[in-house]
Order: sequence, then structure tokens, then C-alpha cells
Amino acid sequence: MNIIEALNWRYATKRMNGKTIPKEKLQIILDAIYLAPSSYGLQPYSIIVIENLELMKKIQPIAYMQPQITEASVLLVFAAWDCLTQQKIDEYITHVAKVRNMSEDSLKRIKLEIGNLLKNTAEENFCWHAKQASIALGVALCAAALEQIDSTPMEGFNSVDLDEVLQLKERGLRSVSIMALGYRDIENDPLVNLPKVRRNKEELFISIQSEIGFTASNINNI
Ligand SMILES: Cc1cc2nc3c(=O)[nH]c(=O)nc-3n(C[C@H](O)[C@H](O)[C@H](O)COP(=O)(O)O)c2cc1C
Repeated sequence: MNIIEALNWRYATKRMNGKTIPKEKLQIILDAIYLAPSSYGLQPYSIIVIENLELMKKIQPIAYMQPQITEASVLLVFAAWDCLTQQKIDEYITHVAKVRNMSEDSLKRIKLEIGNLLKNTAEENFCWHAKQASIALGVALCAAALEQIDSTPMEGFNSVDLDEVLQLKERGLRSVSIMALGYRDIENDPLVNLPKVRRNKEELFISIQSEIGFTASNINNI
């Protein structure tokens, strides 16, 4: 199955059948998240892996009783760093130097560049971290589809309450999204056979052919 076939096959699954997904497939999805790109490579997030049904039941009311929460095999909670600190930057630079066998001194410029972000407010940096976490979610959605594992990306939950249940504040994290992983319930999911709704490609993709830039006459739609 190629990527387009996989993306056509996947859909935001509303009902799952409670079957467990194989460990190897979960591992592939986690490995894909591990390899997801992020700005500066900082990966300013963690992913909480939940397979415990009792915990899923606790989360369900926080996610407006959405059935996938307890019908899924696994829930992945994408949680972004609540703030950026000099210590996190220092640790990252030390890690890069070690992995790539470079001196930390040769990474001085990049360290300063990332350090400039400390001038932002904690909330601004949290938003930037959350954007990076969303890229990882997108990669995970593609990986799951290629592995023929159903999934639901979810923002429909109260993040303050979820953070409390998972004690994320203590870890310096705030929840951004949930990804439910499992198998579609073909009989009970009203969305199972519905066609995809997407905006017109003519609106979505804008090709600018001329180097002059933005004028109505030199913007051609694909
Ligand atoms: C960030 C994000 C948050 C979403 N939150 C929810 C959610 O809480 N519950 C849900 O059932 N679907 C949720 N969706 C699914 C979208 O409604 C769905 O992806 C969109 O309608 C496109 O349909 P498709 O994914 O089936 O192709 C979310 C999707 C994204 C990307």
C-alpha cells in the first residue's frame, strides 16, 4: 500500500472494536514519532503511552465521553514542554555534540540561536512546542495508516483536567492532543464508508510561477 492508498484508507475513526493492536505495530508507530522532524531537532514534547483500560475510563469524561477513548487499544497523549529553559537547551547541545562526536564549541551559534527563544514568553514557547508535537502527530497518523492500524487524532478534551489526571505539570508538560489507536468497528461507526471531505485542490494549492511574487495575475492554481 503506498502513502496515498494508506491516507485514503485511514479516517478519523469514531468507533473502535476494543481489539488489541500487535506490539510490533505499536513499536513502528512510536519509532515513526521518534524520527519525526522538529525545529532545531529539539523534540520539545513527550508522548505518554496508555494501554490501561481503567486509566482510559478516567480519561473518557475529560474527552467529552468520546467512545474511541475506551474502545481503543492504545492512547498516545502528545504533551509539549510547558516552557523552554537554558538547562533544556544546554542538555540538547551536549546530546548533539555526543551523538555527532563534535565539540560543544562548534555548536555555539546554534545554542545562541535557540537561546534567543528564551526572550519569548513561556506561553509563546509552549505554542511553538505544541506545533512541533503536532508534526509528530501527523507523522504518527501516516505511520499508523501504512501499518493498517486505525487511529483518531483528538483535540476534543479538557487539557487542564487531562494534565491533572496524568500529572503532567509535575513533568513540565501540557497535553496537546490524543491519538487513539485500534481497529474500526465496521458495524457501529457511522463514518466508516463515507467519502473524504476535502477543500478543492484549486483552492488548497497555490502555485506562484513568477519570481516577481504576489499579484493576482501571476498566481496560477495547479
Ligand atoms: C488536531 C485534530 C483534532 C481532532 N479532534 C478530534 C476529536 O476530538 N474527535 C474526533 O472524533 N475527531 C477529531 N479529529 C478528526 C477530524 O475531524 C478529521 O481528521 C477530519 O474531519 C478529516 O477527516 P478524516 O481524518 O477522516 O480524513 C481531529 C483531527 C485533528 C487533526
